[in-house]
Amino acid sequence: MSELTIRAELPGDASGVRRVNEQAFGRRDEADLVERLHAGGKVIVALVAEQDRAIVGHILFSPVTIEGAAKPCTAVALAPMAVLPSHQRRGIGRRLVEEGIIACKELGYTRIIVLGHPQYYPWFGFGPAKRYGLHCEYNAPDEAFMALALEPDAFRDCAGLVKFAPEFADV
Ligand SMILES: CC(C)(COP(=O)(O)OP(=O)(O)OC[C@H]1O[C@@H](n2cnc3c(N)ncnc32)[C@H](O)[C@@H]1OP(=O)(O)O)[C@@H](O)C(=O)NCCC(=O)NCCS
Repeated sequence: MSELTIRAELPGDASGVRRVNEQAFGRRDEADLVERLHAGGKVIVALVAEQDRAIVGHILFSPVTIEGAAKPCTAVALAPMAVLPSHQRRGIGRRLVEEGIIACKELGYTRIIVLGHPQYYPWFGFGPAKRYGLHCEYNAPDEAFMALALEPDAFRDCAGLVKFAPEFADV
C-alpha cells in the first residue's frame, strides 16, 4: 500500500469524492451537497486523501455568516468530511482536519465552525461554540456545535447566529 497523500481537490476528483461521501454517510445527501457547494462557488478549501491512486477521504470548508455580530466576522464551516469505511480509524480523518485547518489559516481565516461528533473535534482545539455566544441556525445539541479560534480573541464581538451556505438547507 502506498503512502497517503493529502492534496487539494481537483475537478477530475468528482467521482472519487462522491464515492467516499456516499459510502461514509450511507446515503447521497452529502455527496450532492459537495457538488452543490462547488457549483455555487462556495468552496473555500477542499482536500482529498489519496492512496494507491484512489480517493479515500475528503474534507470541505465553506463560508458562514454570523448574523447579529457586533462587527463583520468572516468564518468558515468544516463540512462535510468523510473517510471510506474501509479506511477509517487510521488517522486519515485527523490528517484531513489538520491540513484543512492549516489551509484555512493560510488563506487568512481565523474562525472555524463545525457541527459534528463532540468526542472527535476537541482533538483539534474545537470547543463549544456557545462559549463565544454563537448559536446554530439548525436544531443541534449544544455539544455538537463547536468553534475553533485560530488566533486569540478571534471571536470577540462575533456573538450571533451562525448561518451556513444555503446549500446546506437541503441536507
Ligand atoms: C468521522 C470520520 C471522517 C473520521 O475519519 P477517520 O479517518 O476514521 O478518523 P481518525 O482515524 O482520525 O479518528 C477516528 C477514530 O479513530 C481512532 N484512531 C485514530 N487513529 C487510529 C489508529 N491508528 N488506530 C486505531 N484507532 C485510531 C481515534 O481515536 C478516533 O476514535 P473515536 O472516534 O472513537 O474517538 C469517519 O469516521 C467518517 O467518514 N464517518 C462517517 C461520516 C461522518 O460522520 N462524517 C463526519 C460528520 S461530522
